[in-house]
Amino acid sequence: MQTVYFNKQFVPLSEAKVSIRTNALHYGSGVFEGIRAYWNATEQQLFVFKLPEHYERMVSNCRVLKLKLDHDVKELCAITVDLLRRNQPKEDTYIRPIAYISSEGLGPKLVGYETGFAIYTIPLGDYIDTSVGIRVGFSSWRRISDNTIPARCKVTGGYVNSALARTEAMEQGYDEALFLTQGGFVSEGSAENLFLVRSGTLITPDRSQDILEGITRDVLLTLCQEELGLTVIERQVGRTELYVADEVFLCGTGAQVAPVIEVDRRPVGSGKMGPITARIQQLYFEVVKGNHPKYRHWCTPVY
Ligand SMILES: Cc1ncc(COP(=O)(O)O)c(C=O)c1O
Repeated sequence: MQTVYFNKQFVPLSEAKVSIRTNALHYGSGVFEGIRAYWNATEQQLFVFKLPEHYERMVSNCRVLKLKLDHDVKELCAITVDLLRRNQPKEDTYIRPIAYISSEGLGPKLVGYETGFAIYTIPLGDYIDTSVGIRVGFSSWRRISDNTIPARCKVTGGYVNSALARTEAMEQGYDEALFLTQGGFVSEGSAENLFLVRSGTLITPDRSQDILEGITRDVLLTLCQEELGLTVIERQVGRTELYVADEVFLCGTGAQVAPVIEVDRRPVGSGKMGPITARIQQLYFEVVKGNHPKYRHWCTPVY
């Protein structure tokens, strides 16, 4: 039986129900997180990756939506570990916390309402392929901008934008969609940040390009500079830069490090996973599983 955290209690999943009048269901007024825990079979240990960082982002996202969380980051981390201990997973697991307007009031507004909070966990292997590489295409849907629905925040309503783009991409035979900003520069994937490699330098769209401020992106900025000695530049990226790039990859908690082998039906570099992407991916998997001593403190042991 799956246990979830709901209304400040640990309850069976079947008992965690919301009313059809819940405000957030109608107006997308919630923020969520996506966190991964990795099973380390050698140590018989489950490691949650970058746990406090995810809740720090959630708390700051809640500020944008004026949602009132009853727990601070430390408590949220403790509740998550407690929940995992109750469910006892011995496999890679995804953790989904959500804060939302739980009041039944009619009308879109952010004040005068109650905030609900829940967490559930679910087994998760690859969200998108990480082995041979994926084919992506630019969407006809533009990325939501900071003055419409801030992409910086994981706002539930903002994921309509992702769903439109991802559906279009899948219907066109791509594995994933890429977004351009309203201004026509490269932003990110439907649920992933993006990096490209040109002449050995790593480039990623900067925070003004309507990207989610990804935790994996941040991790890779550190690892690539400190462990691989690569130069990383955060700047505006033009669409055709991806056509001439040596390597492209997507990253995210779900996506991990996913090589992109084709953009808009043009092969990227050799058309296979590039050597720099392969090094980054290998290092990333070592770190998230708690196998890299220097970054072991990024992993919270559950058992
Ligand atoms: C739109 C979007 N961009 C990027 C990411 C990657 O963010 P993170 O590395 O924090 O998971 C996500 C993630 O989950 C996302 O939904």
